Amino acid sequence: MQGSANLNVMIKTARLAGRSLVKDFREVENLQVSMKGAGDFVSRADLAAEKIIKQELMGTRPNYGWYAEESAEEAGTDPTRRWIVDPLDGTTNFLHGLPHWAVSIALEFKGEIVAGVIFDPAKDEMFVAEKGQGAWMNESRLRVSGRTKMIEACFATGLPFGGRADLPDTLKDLARILPVCSGVRRWGAAALDLAYVAAGRYDGFWERGLHPWDMAAGMLIVREAGGLVEPIVKGGNILADGGILCANEPLFDGFARVIRNG
Ligand code: IPD
Repeated sequence: MQGSANLNVMIKTARLAGRSLVKDFREVENLQVSMKGAGDFVSRADLAAEKIIKQELMGTRPNYGWYAEESAEEAGTDPTRRWIVDPLDGTTNFLHGLPHWAVSIALEFKGEIVAGVIFDPAKDEMFVAEKGQGAWMNESRLRVSGRTKMIEACFATGLPFGGRADLPDTLKDLARILPVCSGVRRWGAAALDLAYVAAGRYDGFWERGLHPWDMAAGMLIVREAGGLVEPIVKGGNILADGGILCANEPLFDGFARVIRNG
C-alpha cells in the first residue's frame, strides 16, 4: 500500500514503540517469578512507549493535537487534527506475559478518523488503513469475513473487570448471543479485536465502556476492510459513548439486534 506521509510516520512510530515494548515484555517473565514490582514495571514500559510515540508524532507534526492514554490532552495550533494514541492496548496481557497486545495510533481530521495503525509486535502484524484506501495487514489487503449465518459466526468482546459498571449489561449480552453463534472470545486487547474483525478472523466485535484510544484506529480499519461499525446505542457517538458494535455486512443487522435488545 502506498500510504500518505502521515501514515508512514505512524507506521514508523508504531515500530519504534513496539521495539521498546518487546524489550520490556521479555523482562516481564523474570518479574513474574517474584511478582514484585511487575505492575510498576509495566506502567513504566507503557509510559516509555508513549514518550517515544509523542516524540515522533509531535516532532513531525508539532501543530496537531494530542490525545493519549497516559498523558494529558493537548490542543494543537491546528484545531482540525489530532493524534489519538494507546501506547499499549492489552496491558493485562502484557503484565501476565501473554503475547497479545498492541500499539494503536489514529489520526483524526475534523472529528473523523482518517488514518489508523495497530501494531502487534509479538506477531509482527501491522494493521493499517487510510480513509478511502482500504485496509492492509503487512503487505496483504484486508477483507472482513464472508460468513452469513449467525450460528457459524465467532464474535469477540471485552468483559468489564474490577467493578466496572458495564458488567450486568455485558453478562446479559452473553446470555443472548452465546446460544445463537459459534463462540465468543475475550482476548484482552480491543484494538486487536477490531483488527481481527477487519482480517476476517472474527465475524464481529462489541464492547461497552471503551476509551477513544482503544477504538479510534480499529474502527477505521474495520470500515476500510468492508465492515460496518456503529455505536451500541443507536444514534450515539462511538468515541464519546465508549460502546462499539461491528461486523461484516451480512451479519450486522442480526448481530446488532441481539446486542441492542438488552
Ligand atoms: C483494555 C483492553 C481490553 C478491554 C478494556 C481496555 P488497555 O485496554 O482493550 O481488551 O476489555 O476495556 O481498557 O487498558 O489494556 O489499554
